[in-house]
Amino acid sequence: MRKIYLVLSLFCCAILFLSNSSDSKFVSNLFLLGGESDPVLPEEAYDYAGIKLPEHLITRPYYGGTDTTIFDNLSNDAATLGRVLFYDELLSANENLSCATCHQQHLSFADESPFSEGVNEDTKRNSPQLNDLGWSNDVAFFWDMSHGKLEEMIALPLENPNEIGVTNLNTLLSKMEQTNYYPELFEKAYSNSEISLDKIQNALGHFIRSMVTFDSKWDQFQRTETSFTTEESNGMLLFASNCENCHFEGRRGLTIQSEYPNNIEQNKEIFSNEMIDENDIGAGSWSEEMKGLFKVPTLRNIEKTGPYMHDGRFETLREVIDHYSDDIGVSKWGIIPSGGYGFTEQEKDELEAFMLTLTDESFLTEVRWSDPFTQTVSNVELDEVLLSAEVFPNPSNGLTYINFENINQRQVMAYLMSMDGKIVRKLSTHKNGFVTDVSQLPVGMYMVKIMNGEGFIDKKLIVQK
Ligand code: HEC
Ligand code: HEC
Repeated sequence: MRKIYLVLSLFCCAILFLSNSSDSKFVSNLFLLGGESDPVLPEEAYDYAGIKLPEHLITRPYYGGTDTTIFDNLSNDAATLGRVLFYDELLSANENLSCATCHQQHLSFADESPFSEGVNEDTKRNSPQLNDLGWSNDVAFFWDMSHGKLEEMIALPLENPNEIGVTNLNTLLSKMEQTNYYPELFEKAYSNSEISLDKIQNALGHFIRSMVTFDSKWDQFQRTETSFTTEESNGMLLFASNCENCHFEGRRGLTIQSEYPNNIEQNKEIFSNEMIDENDIGAGSWSEEMKGLFKVPTLRNIEKTGPYMHDGRFETLREVIDHYSDDIGVSKWGIIPSGGYGFTEQEKDELEAFMLTLTDESFLTEVRWSDPFTQTVSNVELDEVLLSAEVFPNPSNGLTYINFENINQRQVMAYLMSMDGKIVRKLSTHKNGFVTDVSQLPVGMYMVKIMNGEGFIDKKLIVQK
């Protein structure tokens, strides 16, 4: 697992590349050359703290129970800082990687590969999605459930002496001190602009704890705001009688919030879906008895998080269902029957239809969890025309302009795209750029792709109401 520590440790091995110049224009030009720009943040922080555990979850037997105070300590300013840290590639050694490289919002903060590309090699396990971590399962992090507290887990790479020496940590901190934005963000969050490891962990914790998904079709159905099709209803029943022993209706696998890790060991049998992996002992890393066992993942947004399982072995949900139905050998733990459930094709369709009701589009597009950096991709050799491009106002709720200095009068084109790469609009030109009216578009994050013969540049655009 510990690739992630390695990955995180790159926070601390970066070379200080900014000069001591106090000329802020110089500094921001350097950012631009490094492929980074300052984050664009709202005047007043987005609302992270106002989360309420919805009634339909409180009242369900396996959900959060009656503890409704779990979000009380969230701070808007600390979460805002956490958001910037989560997306900031500047912090990594080669300035090409952030938490969001492997945890992408439009995929419910998972990614598309079985294993993710890290700094030197691929991760040993599939990048898990991140949602509801603060309330539904603040007891067992990583696929092998080896860590019991979110902030502790975020701290791991930073505490590891083999990876992070004090020198490296200092390098990271002084690099952050020299940005235009961190001192101010730390000041806002902690009434003190000093940057420290504790605060970095704490702020990332606030951000991740704020990521809750309460608005899937399943939630709407629970709130009686919508109805299920027959297929979805049948799927729900099948799920309840077969899968819920372990998956608890789409929620993570463990409810008991105390006595970690004893409560896990007492419930051993739910941590195997009878797959075999010769290369990974899973929770065997901390208990001989738990060998070969893995966390029961949440199935919320499961449509978006493939490939599936700790090693990304299944591409599609249908392959997962086929595994449970037809590919189980002799059941070792007894919950799933030997030989599998033997679903009919129709039952497989129904199960799949039910799982698709767990997708929460708002979670995948919500601006407060999105990338605040406006310019993240550029494969151009610093073409002057493209680099001069500006998108404003940003955020926008109406006419939006894309201007640039077209020195060499080459033809330039621009597209407005959704974050998953679909073209929403081809933009029309005005005299020194493009203009488009975004007032009718769904609120969220978009990409403006600007192209000329030299290459392209992508700029983020936030559409708000
Ligand atoms: C190179 C890819 C990569 C990067 C970068 C990365 N992660 Fe992860 N993350 C992973 C993988 C892989 C796992 C699963 C590790 C395991 O279970 O052994 C993971 C696990 C996690 C978990 C545990 C989730 C759970 O349900 O158990 C959290 C939380 C997390 N990462 C947050 C972060 C944060 C915060 C950052 C940035 C500081 C980050 N990750 C950067 C790949 C990455
Ligand atoms: C005995 C407990 C158990 C039962 C019953 C069970 N699962 Fe699982 N499920 C798990 C575990 C454990 C994993 C993670 C396994 C791993 O990666 O090693 C998992 C993983 C999954 C995943 C992949 C999640 C991801 O993020 O990669 C899906 C989808 C899934 N199960 C669906 C189902 C469905 C549908 C059923 C009922 C037909 C079901 N499960 C029944 C324990 C169970």
